[in-house]
Amino acid sequence: MFDPLNPRNPPDDARKHAPATERNRGPILEVLRRVLPPQGLVLEVASGTGQHAVAFAQALPGLIWQPSDPDPDLRASTRAWAVSVGVPNLRDPLDLNAAAADWPIDRADAVVCINMIHIAPWTAALGLFAGAARLLPAGAPLLLYGPFRRDGGHTAPSNAEFDASLKARNPAWGVRDLGEVGRAATGFTLSEVVEMPANNLTVLLRRR
Ligand SMILES: C[S@@+](CC[C@H](N)C(=O)[O-])C[C@H]1O[C@@H](n2cnc3c(N)ncnc32)[C@H](O)[C@@H]1O
Repeated sequence: MFDPLNPRNPPDDARKHAPATERNRGPILEVLRRVLPPQGLVLEVASGTGQHAVAFAQALPGLIWQPSDPDPDLRASTRAWAVSVGVPNLRDPLDLNAAAADWPIDRADAVVCINMIHIAPWTAALGLFAGAARLLPAGAPLLLYGPFRRDGGHTAPSNAEFDASLKARNPAWGVRDLGEVGRAATGFTLSEVVEMPANNLTVLLRRR
Protein backbone atom coordinates (compact mmCIF):
# COMPACT_ATOMS: atom_id res chain seq x y z
CA MET A 1 0.00 0.00 0.00
CA PHE A 2 2.76 2.44 0.92
CA ASP A 3 6.04 2.88 -0.87
CA PRO A 4 8.54 4.34 1.62
CA LEU A 5 10.71 5.40 -1.32
CA ASN A 6 7.88 7.39 -2.85
CA PRO A 7 9.51 10.72 -3.71
CA ARG A 8 6.21 12.53 -3.09
CA ASN A 9 6.78 12.13 0.63
CA PRO A 10 9.33 14.32 2.39
CA PRO A 11 10.74 12.59 5.50
CA ASP A 12 8.55 14.44 8.01
CA ASP A 13 5.34 13.88 6.05
CA ALA A 14 3.07 11.16 7.50
CA ARG A 15 0.88 11.06 4.37
CA LYS A 16 0.79 7.58 2.84
CA HIS A 17 -0.28 6.92 -0.74
CA ALA A 18 -2.51 4.05 -1.82
CA PRO A 19 -2.67 4.40 -5.64
CA ALA A 20 -5.87 2.33 -5.83
CA THR A 21 -7.72 5.07 -3.95
CA GLU A 22 -6.95 7.48 -6.77
CA ARG A 23 -8.44 5.05 -9.30
CA ASN A 24 -11.55 3.95 -7.40
CA ARG A 25 -12.59 7.14 -5.59
CA GLY A 26 -14.46 8.57 -8.61
CA PRO A 27 -16.66 5.52 -9.22
CA ILE A 28 -17.24 5.07 -5.46
CA LEU A 29 -18.16 8.74 -5.09
CA GLU A 30 -20.83 8.36 -7.79
CA VAL A 31 -22.53 5.70 -5.67
CA LEU A 32 -22.07 7.67 -2.44
CA ARG A 33 -23.70 10.75 -3.96
CA ARG A 34 -26.74 8.66 -4.82
CA VAL A 35 -27.23 6.63 -1.64
CA LEU A 36 -25.87 8.70 1.26
CA PRO A 37 -28.22 11.12 3.01
CA PRO A 38 -27.57 14.78 2.09
CA GLN A 39 -26.66 15.60 5.69
CA GLY A 40 -25.50 13.69 8.74
CA LEU A 41 -22.54 11.75 10.08
CA VAL A 42 -20.78 9.10 7.98
CA LEU A 43 -18.51 6.65 9.79
CA GLU A 44 -15.80 5.22 7.55
CA VAL A 45 -14.43 1.95 8.93
CA ALA A 46 -10.86 1.05 7.84
CA SER A 47 -9.99 4.42 6.28
CA GLY A 48 -6.41 3.36 5.55
CA THR A 49 -4.29 6.25 4.27
CA GLY A 50 -7.18 8.73 4.61
CA GLN A 51 -7.16 9.64 0.92
CA HIS A 52 -10.77 8.50 0.47
CA ALA A 53 -11.84 10.35 3.62
CA VAL A 54 -10.34 13.63 2.39
CA ALA A 55 -11.76 13.23 -1.13
CA PHE A 56 -15.25 12.24 0.01
CA ALA A 57 -15.46 14.91 2.74
CA GLN A 58 -14.46 17.53 0.17
CA ALA A 59 -16.95 16.29 -2.41
CA LEU A 60 -19.84 15.91 0.07
CA PRO A 61 -19.72 19.09 2.18
CA GLY A 62 -23.20 18.54 3.67
CA LEU A 63 -21.92 15.46 5.50
CA ILE A 64 -19.59 15.12 8.46
CA TRP A 65 -17.02 12.45 7.60
CA GLN A 66 -15.66 10.38 10.50
CA PRO A 67 -12.62 8.30 9.45
CA SER A 68 -11.26 5.43 11.56
CA ASP A 69 -8.57 2.78 11.48
CA PRO A 70 -6.91 0.55 14.11
CA ASP A 71 -3.44 1.30 12.68
CA PRO A 72 -1.86 4.38 14.32
CA ASP A 73 0.39 5.09 11.31
CA LEU A 74 -2.66 5.19 9.06
CA ARG A 75 -4.50 7.49 11.47
CA ALA A 76 -1.42 9.75 11.36
CA SER A 77 -1.57 9.61 7.56
CA THR A 78 -5.25 10.62 7.60
CA ARG A 79 -4.44 13.55 9.92
CA ALA A 80 -1.59 14.65 7.66
CA TRP A 81 -3.80 14.51 4.55
CA ALA A 82 -6.50 16.48 6.40
CA VAL A 83 -4.02 19.17 7.44
CA SER A 84 -2.52 19.42 3.94
CA VAL A 85 -5.90 19.84 2.29
CA GLY A 86 -7.93 21.59 5.01
CA VAL A 87 -11.37 19.95 5.11
CA PRO A 88 -13.73 21.44 7.73
CA ASN A 89 -16.22 18.53 7.69
CA LEU A 90 -13.57 15.84 8.26
CA ARG A 91 -13.23 14.63 11.86
CA ASP A 92 -10.09 13.37 13.55
CA PRO A 93 -9.74 9.60 12.89
CA LEU A 94 -10.95 7.17 15.55
CA ASP A 95 -9.05 4.10 16.75
CA LEU A 96 -11.71 1.59 15.73
CA ASN A 97 -11.25 -2.17 15.38
CA ALA A 98 -14.34 -3.49 13.62
CA ALA A 99 -14.05 -6.83 15.42
CA ALA A 100 -14.22 -5.23 18.88
CA ALA A 101 -17.43 -5.46 20.88
CA ASP A 102 -17.21 -1.78 21.81
CA TRP A 103 -16.72 1.00 19.29
CA PRO A 104 -15.65 4.55 20.23
CA ILE A 105 -18.76 6.04 18.60
CA ASP A 106 -22.41 5.39 19.35
CA ARG A 107 -24.36 6.72 16.39
CA ALA A 108 -24.00 7.44 12.69
CA ASP A 109 -26.28 8.10 9.75
CA ALA A 110 -24.28 5.87 7.39
CA VAL A 111 -21.32 3.48 7.54
CA VAL A 112 -18.85 3.02 4.68
CA CYS A 113 -16.19 0.28 4.55
CA ILE A 114 -13.89 0.05 1.53
CA ASN A 115 -11.56 -2.88 0.87
CA MET A 116 -11.49 -4.27 4.39
CA ILE A 117 -13.53 -7.45 4.82
CA HIS A 118 -11.29 -9.56 2.53
CA ILE A 119 -8.05 -8.25 4.12
CA ALA A 120 -9.08 -9.10 7.67
CA PRO A 121 -10.39 -12.21 9.40
CA TRP A 122 -14.11 -12.95 8.97
CA THR A 123 -14.58 -11.83 12.60
CA ALA A 124 -13.88 -8.26 11.39
CA ALA A 125 -16.79 -8.52 8.93
CA LEU A 126 -19.06 -9.95 11.64
CA GLY A 127 -17.96 -7.14 13.99
CA LEU A 128 -18.63 -4.59 11.24
CA PHE A 129 -22.20 -5.83 10.79
CA ALA A 130 -22.84 -5.91 14.56
CA GLY A 131 -21.30 -2.48 15.14
CA ALA A 132 -23.08 -0.86 12.21
CA ALA A 133 -26.36 -2.37 13.43
CA ARG A 134 -25.79 -0.74 16.85
CA LEU A 135 -25.07 2.69 15.33
CA LEU A 136 -27.51 3.05 12.46
CA PRO A 137 -31.19 3.96 12.53
CA ALA A 138 -33.75 2.03 10.46
CA GLY A 139 -33.27 2.53 6.72
CA ALA A 140 -29.69 3.85 7.04
CA PRO A 141 -27.03 2.55 4.63
CA LEU A 142 -24.01 0.34 5.23
CA LEU A 143 -21.83 0.36 2.10
CA LEU A 144 -19.16 -2.22 1.37
CA TYR A 145 -16.75 -1.96 -1.53
CA GLY A 146 -14.33 -4.58 -2.77
CA PRO A 147 -14.03 -7.88 -4.66
CA PHE A 148 -16.68 -10.52 -3.88
CA ARG A 149 -17.38 -14.08 -4.95
CA ARG A 150 -20.91 -14.68 -6.26
CA ASP A 151 -22.73 -18.02 -5.81
CA GLY A 152 -19.49 -19.51 -4.49
CA GLY A 153 -17.45 -18.64 -7.59
CA HIS A 154 -15.07 -15.85 -8.53
CA THR A 155 -16.31 -13.20 -10.96
CA ALA A 156 -12.95 -12.91 -12.78
CA PRO A 157 -9.63 -14.81 -12.98
CA SER A 158 -7.86 -11.77 -11.48
CA ASN A 159 -10.08 -12.03 -8.37
CA ALA A 160 -9.26 -15.75 -8.05
CA GLU A 161 -5.54 -14.92 -8.19
CA PHE A 162 -6.00 -12.11 -5.68
CA ASP A 163 -7.90 -14.46 -3.35
CA ALA A 164 -5.05 -17.01 -3.51
CA SER A 165 -2.49 -14.30 -2.76
CA LEU A 166 -4.54 -13.06 0.22
CA LYS A 167 -4.83 -16.59 1.64
CA ALA A 168 -1.09 -17.13 1.16
CA ARG A 169 -0.45 -14.02 3.26
CA ASN A 170 -3.00 -14.99 5.89
CA PRO A 171 -5.28 -18.05 5.75
CA ALA A 172 -7.98 -16.10 7.62
CA TRP A 173 -8.20 -13.55 4.79
CA GLY A 174 -9.92 -14.04 1.45
CA VAL A 175 -12.45 -12.72 -1.02
CA ARG A 176 -15.88 -13.12 0.63
CA ASP A 177 -18.99 -14.58 -0.95
CA LEU A 178 -21.78 -12.06 -1.46
CA GLY A 179 -24.44 -14.55 -0.35
CA GLU A 180 -22.57 -15.28 2.90
CA VAL A 181 -22.15 -11.56 3.50
CA GLY A 182 -25.89 -11.02 3.06
CA ARG A 183 -26.70 -13.87 5.47
CA ALA A 184 -24.15 -12.71 8.06
CA ALA A 185 -25.36 -9.10 8.02
CA THR A 186 -28.28 -9.78 10.33
CA GLY A 187 -30.31 -6.66 10.92
CA PHE A 188 -29.69 -5.49 7.33
CA THR A 189 -31.42 -6.00 4.00
CA LEU A 190 -29.24 -6.41 0.92
CA SER A 191 -30.66 -3.52 -1.05
CA GLU A 192 -28.43 -3.08 -4.11
CA VAL A 193 -25.29 -4.44 -5.75
CA VAL A 194 -23.41 -2.07 -8.07
CA GLU A 195 -20.82 -3.44 -10.49
CA MET A 196 -17.67 -1.35 -10.29
CA PRO A 197 -14.50 -1.14 -12.41
CA ALA A 198 -11.80 -3.81 -12.04
CA ASN A 199 -14.29 -6.54 -11.03
CA ASN A 200 -15.22 -4.94 -7.74
CA LEU A 201 -18.69 -4.43 -6.29
CA THR A 202 -20.31 -1.85 -4.11
CA VAL A 203 -22.80 -3.61 -1.84
CA LEU A 204 -25.55 -1.52 -0.27
CA LEU A 205 -27.10 -2.93 2.89
CA ARG A 206 -29.85 -1.06 4.68
CA ARG A 207 -30.60 -1.26 8.38
CA ARG A 208 -33.97 -2.89 8.97
C1 LIG B 1 -6.48 -2.64 2.02
S1 LIG B 1 -6.58 -1.48 3.30
C2 LIG B 1 -7.92 -0.46 2.72
C3 LIG B 1 -7.85 0.91 3.27
C4 LIG B 1 -8.77 1.94 2.61
N1 LIG B 1 -10.16 1.70 2.93
C5 LIG B 1 -8.54 1.96 1.13
O1 LIG B 1 -9.44 1.59 0.37
O2 LIG B 1 -7.43 2.34 0.72
C6 LIG B 1 -7.32 -2.40 4.63
C7 LIG B 1 -7.54 -1.58 5.88
O3 LIG B 1 -8.28 -2.34 6.82
C8 LIG B 1 -7.82 -1.99 8.09
N2 LIG B 1 -8.23 -3.07 9.01
C9 LIG B 1 -7.73 -4.30 9.11
N3 LIG B 1 -8.36 -4.99 10.07
C10 LIG B 1 -9.30 -4.15 10.59
C11 LIG B 1 -10.27 -4.27 11.61
N4 LIG B 1 -10.41 -5.41 12.33
N5 LIG B 1 -11.06 -3.22 11.88
C12 LIG B 1 -10.93 -2.07 11.17
N6 LIG B 1 -10.04 -1.90 10.19
C13 LIG B 1 -9.22 -2.93 9.90
C14 LIG B 1 -6.32 -1.85 7.92
O4 LIG B 1 -5.70 -1.14 8.97
C15 LIG B 1 -6.27 -1.12 6.59
O5 LIG B 1 -6.33 0.27 6.76
